[in-house]
Formats: sequence, structure tokens, C-alpha cells
Amino acid sequence: MKNNLSNIKKAIKYLNKNQCVGIPTETVYGLAANAYSSVATAKIFKLKKRPKQNPLIVHYFNLKMLKKDCEINELFLKLYRRYSPGPISYILKLKKNSLISKNVTNKKKTLAVRFPSHPTTRNLLKKLNYPLAAPSANISTKISPVSKKDVKDEFGKKISLILDGGQSKIGVESTIVNLVDKPQILRLGGLPKEEIKKYLNLKINYDKKSKFKSPGQSKTHYSPHIKLRLNIKNPNQNEAFILIRKRKKLNTNYFYLSKNNNLKEAAKNLYKTLRSIKKNKFKSIAVEKIPNEGFGEVINDRLKRASNFK
Ligand code: TXA
Ligand code: MG
Repeated sequence: MKNNLSNIKKAIKYLNKNQCVGIPTETVYGLAANAYSSVATAKIFKLKKRPKQNPLIVHYFNLKMLKKDCEINELFLKLYRRYSPGPISYILKLKKNSLISKNVTNKKKTLAVRFPSHPTTRNLLKKLNYPLAAPSANISTKISPVSKKDVKDEFGKKISLILDGGQSKIGVESTIVNLVDKPQILRLGGLPKEEIKKYLNLKINYDKKSKFKSPGQSKTHYSPHIKLRLNIKNPNQNEAFILIRKRKKLNTNYFYLSKNNNLKEAAKNLYKTLRSIKKNKFKSIAVEKIPNEGFGEVINDRLKRASNFK
């Protein structure tokens, strides 16, 4: 399906009727609904089987729309001007008179917001007079989708429309930065944390154990629901083996995220590869050691959570 104007018009029609629509973003695909509507946002939780206490990220077209719902500060503006639209989400203070549905925030006084850069979704957001709540379009705890087909695999006919935006260019979720109180990184993601630190020249850390951490960062997540082992040199027979460097041997159970240790490329291919291992019915996955730097740190974070599946 091409995203000509008529598909975007269709999406608007469904969204206006409080329905959910699959949308492409540069990080992963989202399951979108009108963030001002309790009817629409309740459907997201139901479709995803998502615990009600896990709040949603809201997607905006621009600052003007955001200012209706959130208090903004200097640090936010600095990051916004540099990195948005792009793979970063901000936690901001929710305005008292904001129309955001209580379902979205789980009655919190903060809101996670993001400005996706994918042209199809920007085009859609521009034409709406409400922002879109959109968590990753997967059943809770499973692998995030990076193509229209992945979203279809998750929800089948339960959703009426998925906009096609090709494969997500980044392939892992946005980096989440808390800008309420002490700035902190709550989730590693598509914008490497070193880059944010360097740009701000600020001590802004990733605090895994913070009380304020994202409720959705549960121990088991991003999982193909197959046993997964990390830092493996030699896989067992019949075990899928995930690699980032090319080996001399050619084996049918080898799955390359990259052939030359390119960690950005590896992150882009991560979820796609986990999905295809699942489709090939492997019962167990081994992963070779991945350097814990830049995108490698993000890949390790996701695989560590996936490895908690028992
Ligand atoms: O790249 C992304 O961010 C994708 C695309 C679709 O935009 N969205 C995404 O949404 O990853 P989701 O719902 O799968 O992850 C959002 C995370 C969850 O871990 C949630 O707990 C956290 O953001 N979150 C939402 N609101 C929050 C808040 N007010 N304070 C702290 N964490 C929050
Ligand atoms: Mg998610």
C-alpha cells in the first residue's frame, strides 16, 4: 500500500472515529489513537494487552501543539531544537488544563512526548487537531514492529488500517529523557546517550534503578518468547546464532545483524532478525558478545531483557 494522500485521509477518518491505526516512525511502528479521547486510548491498552499503569508516549507535529498540553523549559528547548523531529522522547510536566486523556498518563502529572521524523506520520500529524498516543505496535513484552507486515503479524484483522512507511530506519525505540526535576535518561534508544551528554555538557545519566524509571521498562521485554543466551562463543547445534561479524563458516542457523561490526546497522536489524528466528521455529537463541558502546549498549539492553524470558 502506498501512502498517497488517500491513505492518509483514510487514517484521519479512522482516527476521528476513535479507532486505532498503525503508523510508521523512524524508530519502530506505533499503534496510534487520539490522545484526547478516552474511548480511543482505551482501545490501545486492550489491543496491546498493556497494563493500565504503563503510560503512553504522545506524538506531536510541532511546539505549538505541544504547548497546549505541557510546560516547557530551557533544557527541553535546547534538545528539541537539535534533535526533534527524531528518535528522542521527553518527559515534561503536564498542564492542568490539558485535554490529554487520563488513560494516557495513568493520572501522572507528567507526560512523555515525541516528535517523530517519518514523513508519512508527520504528514498525518500535521492534518490532525489532536496529538497521537502511540506505543510500539506490539503485544506487551513482545518484539517491537519495524514494518507494516510486523504490525499485521501482531494484530491481524483487529486493526483496520496500517500506514506503510517501509522498514524503520533506526529500528529501536526512542531514547527517553526525563526533564522534570533532575535530568535523567530513562530508556536507552535511537539517540545514543553519549551524544546527548556531549551536546548538553551536563552530567545526565542513565539510571536503571531510578524510582522515576519508565514503568514499561520491565525485566522481561522485547522478547520473541524463545530462550535467549548472551555472550556465546559457540552455539549449540540447532540453536539460532546472532552475529555482528562475518565468520568463515556458512551455517543456516547464523543470523547476521551486521557483517562488519557496524553497531548502528546491527540495531536496525535487531527486531527484524528476532522475528525471522521466531518464524523459523528455533527453540533457542545464542548471541555473540556485542561491545557495550553506542548502539551496542542499546542492543545489549534489549537483549538482556529478552533473555529474562523463561
Ligand atoms: O520510539 C518510540 O518511542 C516508540 C514509537 C512508536 O514512537 N514508542 C514507544 O512507546 O516505544 P512504548 O509505549 O512502547 O514505550 C514508552 C515508554 C514506556 O516504557 C513507558 O513506561 C514510558 O515510555 N513512559 C510513558 N510515559 C511516561 C512518563 N510520564 N514518565 C516516565 N515514563 C513514561
Ligand atoms: Mg514498547
